[in-house]
Amino acid sequence: MKISVAQIPPTTIPYGKTCIVIDVLRATSVITVLLDLGVKEIYPTATIEEARILKKSLETSNEKVLLLGERDGLPPEGFDHGNSPTALLENPSVPLVAVQATTNGTPALLSCYGASSVIGAAPLNLSTSCKHAVNSGNDVLIVCAGLRGKFAEDDMLAAGMFVEKLVSLGGTITDSATKALTLYKKSEKFFAESLRRTEHGQKTFELGFNNDIEKCAEIDKYKVFGVLSKIFDRPCIIPNTN
Ligand code: MLT
Repeated sequence: MKISVAQIPPTTIPYGKTCIVIDVLRATSVITVLLDLGVKEIYPTATIEEARILKKSLETSNEKVLLLGERDGLPPEGFDHGNSPTALLENPSVPLVAVQATTNGTPALLSCYGASSVIGAAPLNLSTSCKHAVNSGNDVLIVCAGLRGKFAEDDMLAAGMFVEKLVSLGGTITDSATKALTLYKKSEKFFAESLRRTEHGQKTFELGFNNDIEKCAEIDKYKVFGVLSKIFDRPCIIPNTN
């Protein structure tokens, strides 16, 4: 099992691979929290407009659908919720179905749709998501969500943490994975602070979401992780615990 890291989402479908998609601040951390709160289906969309339309169409067959996500870090107009995991935890009663639209995280997940397996992961569910990836028997591509198509250090730091875990589970490292691991090893003892110092971390901090940074830096708080599946002929994240 070879482990590679993509600094930004792929432009072609990574056929045959197991993809671990990471948007540590905050989309895949939010996905983990939502699944732990009991959400059974999360539909990721590429745009805000698509998310609004999808919520309406799903609500005809479901009692209530949670519409959540962000633009520039804040909840878009008419959304039920932003992209804050700690705010979700303050009001933990959630419907069974959610639609999520974020700037980088949800497009990154969708860019891998069609790969052998796609996991939405974060440090919050490091161990269980890595075990699932190893059990798939495929080579693993860790996909960093990045920032609008460019390298984002926060995701690369988290990717390094995943590389370390996957190597401990028998994976073989490649150059791209070594790069992420080296970056992570310099910061592992003060991981939350390292996330905060990144460009995206600074922006998240300035918007008043320091609690989210602390939350997203927590390791192995949850067993559940999201797997990208197909429901109603659409990409949909469903919970898995191995
Ligand atoms: C994203 O998808 O770009 C992020 O999760 C943004 C954020 O929540 O700050």
